[in-house]
Amino acid sequence: MKKPKIIITIDGYASTGKSTQAKNIAKKLDYTYIDSGAMYRAVTLYAIRKNILNESRINTLINSLVDINIEFKKNKNVQKIYLNGEQVENEIRMSIVNSNVSKLSTIPEVRNFLLTKQRDYGKNKGLVMDGRDIGTVVFPNAECKFFFNAKQEVRAKRRHLEQRRKGNLETYHKVFENIIERDRIDTNRPFNPLKKSPDAIEIDVSDLTENEVFNKLWGHITKKIN
Ligand code: CDP
Repeated sequence: MKKPKIIITIDGYASTGKSTQAKNIAKKLDYTYIDSGAMYRAVTLYAIRKNILNESRINTLINSLVDINIEFKKNKNVQKIYLNGEQVENEIRMSIVNSNVSKLSTIPEVRNFLLTKQRDYGKNKGLVMDGRDIGTVVFPNAECKFFFNAKQEVRAKRRHLEQRRKGNLETYHKVFENIIERDRIDTNRPFNPLKKSPDAIEIDVSDLTENEVFNKLWGHITKKIN
């Protein structure tokens, strides 16, 4: 008998390895993987390029949302994000985007714009999506929900290393500050803040290897699909 397809959500704090795990789970299950953070980053990049990020131009930004087309396409089996037809996978990870994405993500119109797109991906189930409000707002009825946390230093070290590998020479201090600041804005925004859904399984990944986290997730997921 064919296994039922489900929706799996992974929410949590910045740089806890949500995307890596979500990607691996999706691969193992042959599901679609969607990085909702990349979508917020793409809108931020658009706003930076159009110079409509500041408070005084918020209405222009809201009116421009209709001009934004975000797609995920597979390139030699690696998924990349496209903004109005342009592949922007590296651009959306730049520090200028890191510094502005959480502020932009507080705007309800931006969240609602992306919410519709995110829900579309779940129409046929068979989806793993990571972010901040996926288990609480985007897919409150998802069959399997996780919430990741880790010590601040562990997260900053992780992101700092990741950035170095990509040739970004930002200092550890700057990376640390950005992560803390984004968490502060993400948890305190009035509209759809980062919080654990009561039915999500919480995992502190501070002292776990990538494989150990994967095995934990897999243990819970197999109970839902078998
Ligand atoms: O750096 P990290 O991979 O942890 O973050 P991300 O998943 O790329 O998300 C970047 C930012 O987008 C977050 O700090 C939030 O401000 C925002 N975001 C959100 O508000 N809601 C989501 N579902 C996903 C991301």
